[in-house]
Amino acid sequence: MDKKWVSGAGVVVLFVLLLYLFIGFARHSARMGHIVKELSGHPGQDKPGYHIVLIEQERYHPYWEMVEKGAREAAAKYGMDIEFTGPVRNNMEEQLSLLEKAIAAQVDAIIVQGLNDEKFTPVIDKAVNRGIPVITIDTDAPASRRLAYVGTDNVAAGEALGRMVVQTTGGQGKIGVIIGSELAKNQLQRLDGLKNVVQHYSGMEIVDIRSSNISHMEAIQQAADMLRFHPEIDVMVGTSATDALGMLQASRSLKRSPLTIIGFDNQAGTLEAISRGEIAATVAQQPYLMGDMAVRLLYQHFQGMKIESRYYTGVKVLDRSNVQEGESL
Ligand code: BGC
Repeated sequence: MDKKWVSGAGVVVLFVLLLYLFIGFARHSARMGHIVKELSGHPGQDKPGYHIVLIEQERYHPYWEMVEKGAREAAAKYGMDIEFTGPVRNNMEEQLSLLEKAIAAQVDAIIVQGLNDEKFTPVIDKAVNRGIPVITIDTDAPASRRLAYVGTDNVAAGEALGRMVVQTTGGQGKIGVIIGSELAKNQLQRLDGLKNVVQHYSGMEIVDIRSSNISHMEAIQQAADMLRFHPEIDVMVGTSATDALGMLQASRSLKRSPLTIIGFDNQAGTLEAISRGEIAATVAQQPYLMGDMAVRLLYQHFQGMKIESRYYTGVKVLDRSNVQEGESL
């Protein structure tokens, strides 16, 4: 046989064999890729469910449970898969590491509180640079590349709080303030709003400001210390959800009445105390709406719709005359 012919046939056989092996390998890797995608929570093209994560300031906190409820119900409505996470006790570093974890897990979108510009902005930008859209909730990080903010206009809400303090006290009083945290921008913005109003009344003075670390127990402790240290305080104002009830408990145990207490948010205990006349008023945010809207906006974004960069959910000032409206917020 012609030697040339034999070697030519050998090359063809070898080529066919290599082609067969290559096709087999390509099909196998495509199958593996699909399995990996499914396992990592990234649905294939045939399954349009998005996997999103909502990172809270504190898990199991009544305020965040309302946010969670709104987000869960919206996710069910739009066929999205939502995961809730957050530190068990308020801890900004842990919150940031949960944000990093969500980025590493390549989730489809993240909803996160933008508590502190310096710390959150670079990590939010990292997510966006990797193609993960981020919505800030409750507290904005406006310098970041986040898609949108959903929540209260915190300076305006602080001013509403200030106006309520003036209205309730007639513009006279020595004020003790408890804020949720000295590192949280939403709390500092509310404090600024409160000061913007109070500074125009010569009969009013803020004599002490302390932080509750968004804990009911710490709010009691701080309020009690403040009242012992400043017996002249006759108005107490709180800027986070658990503060007013803490101040009420402290004033009861120290038998400090009359004391005008004005707080924030619509926790059941706060609303009950308003109906009994023990807390004068509260500035109620809309945590359910925040959760609901954040998920809805992500859904619209995934549908290719254009969304705005800021959605203020509004607050309602509640006193004894309209306190029942707080239950449906
Ligand atoms: C604030 C939240 C905070 C919550 C806890 C709310 O008023 O908007 O940022 O986590 O209070 O007390």
